[in-house]
Amino acid sequence: MTQSEGAGEPTRRDFLYIATGMAGVVGAGSFAWPFIDQMRPDASTLAVSSIEVNVESLEPGMSLTVKWRGKPVFIRNRTAAEIEEAKAVAVADLKDPVARNANIAASAEATDVDRSAGEGLENWLVMIGVCTHLGCIPLGQAGEFGGWFCPCHGSHYDTAGRIRKGPAPENLPVPVFSFVSDSVIKIG
Ligand code: FES
Repeated sequence: MTQSEGAGEPTRRDFLYIATGMAGVVGAGSFAWPFIDQMRPDASTLAVSSIEVNVESLEPGMSLTVKWRGKPVFIRNRTAAEIEEAKAVAVADLKDPVARNANIAASAEATDVDRSAGEGLENWLVMIGVCTHLGCIPLGQAGEFGGWFCPCHGSHYDTAGRIRKGPAPENLPVPVFSFVSDSVIKIG
């Protein structure tokens, strides 16, 4: 078998197939786009959209992932051990010392309580589940700090969703949310 017939260099014929295939994809894409675009909610609808999530069945140590504005949101009822572990870390030792919590001041520090739902509700953690490096979805209760682990490039988040190791630059962001009853969280 010569090289041009094997799995090595693509032959001229292969190149023509690839080029033709790509033209087909581009053509289909530009044809379909106007229809897809019309189906999107407009910006004002997206801006006000909020969801309510019943978390009654989430025992300590359990998590739920919901979709909000097209993104995954992690809701976790943390265990006492997870809270203690996060509280034991000094803010000065954090890679990102900012809380990144949309419910409090932008300058707030990434203490455990300011990453959580607040005083008396420290067990609740609500975060956008998108890695702050390049946007993969981290895995829960994994990694070196027992929080979340992004396998794409190895970012480790702790039990308060704070980046502790790896290329991600920031803590997982906390969206606007509030408890509208004992068991229902409104996000957005
Ligand atoms: S996208 Fe998560 S580590 Fe790169």
